[in-house]
Amino acid sequence: MAIKIDGKMISTQVKDECKKRVKKEALDVTLAVIQVGNDPASTVYVGNKKKACEYIGIHSLSYELPEETTEEELLELVEKLNQDKNVHGILVQLPLPAHIDEDKVIQTISPKKDVDGFHPQSVGALSIGQPGFVSCTPAGIIQLLKRSGVEMDGKECVIVGRSNIVGKPMALLMLRENATVTVCHSHTANLKEVTKRADILIVAIGKPKFITKEYVKKGAVVIDVGIHRNENNKLCGDVDFDDVEPVCSAITPVPGGVGPMTIAMLMNNCVEAKGIQEA
Ligand code: GUN
Repeated sequence: MAIKIDGKMISTQVKDECKKRVKKEALDVTLAVIQVGNDPASTVYVGNKKKACEYIGIHSLSYELPEETTEEELLELVEKLNQDKNVHGILVQLPLPAHIDEDKVIQTISPKKDVDGFHPQSVGALSIGQPGFVSCTPAGIIQLLKRSGVEMDGKECVIVGRSNIVGKPMALLMLRENATVTVCHSHTANLKEVTKRADILIVAIGKPKFITKEYVKKGAVVIDVGIHRNENNKLCGDVDFDDVEPVCSAITPVPGGVGPMTIAMLMNNCVEAKGIQEA
């Protein structure tokens, strides 16, 4: 039987550490959260982020803008928040409506307030081992592995998915931990052969239950970043949990695996942002 890596429990540990620090150092931290339009999934995510702020003792400022908001108006708001000394983190929930250039918005956020870690300066810093904010989902996966006692040094790590938010920063973080890293994607030949080499397999491809036991080496650690609703409206991941669980040594469930870690790391980044701006 594989160990089920408990993301809910580990995310609570991380959040409690943030909460303690905020209290001990009497930190007055504010996160500005911007949502444009009312994509239902985004509304749930934004709601969860605001709840986490409340739990930790971080103030959250909520900007719920209509779908018709222009790019110029959004950029103006971001610039205003960049200048505001009382705001320490800025989060623009993605995806944005099609008429707004996401890259332009991300590049407008001050790197000092880039708690999502999406700004090119943050990504560049990560790639050359300099300090900067790290994208929350991959940073959360590193915490899940460390706090579950999974050794990364010298291990074969295969990442399925090459997105800017998960796959690419995940590869950089795994390199930092001295793993041997392979990144696979939709053009990878013989995917099963590659994923079968993994001691640690991280799956972020956005296809429900795509990874079955044929993709997994016996005893591997499997991390599932996907989240979908199946035909019965139940949540499932990119990994077919029931099929893979018997062959691996540890696995993250969906829900309750990677998901809660993303928010915990966002909270951690907000507390760090305050520290950087005070320094
Ligand atoms: N949309 C889906 N995940 C994220 C995230 O981590 N940050 C932001 N800003 N938008 C998202």
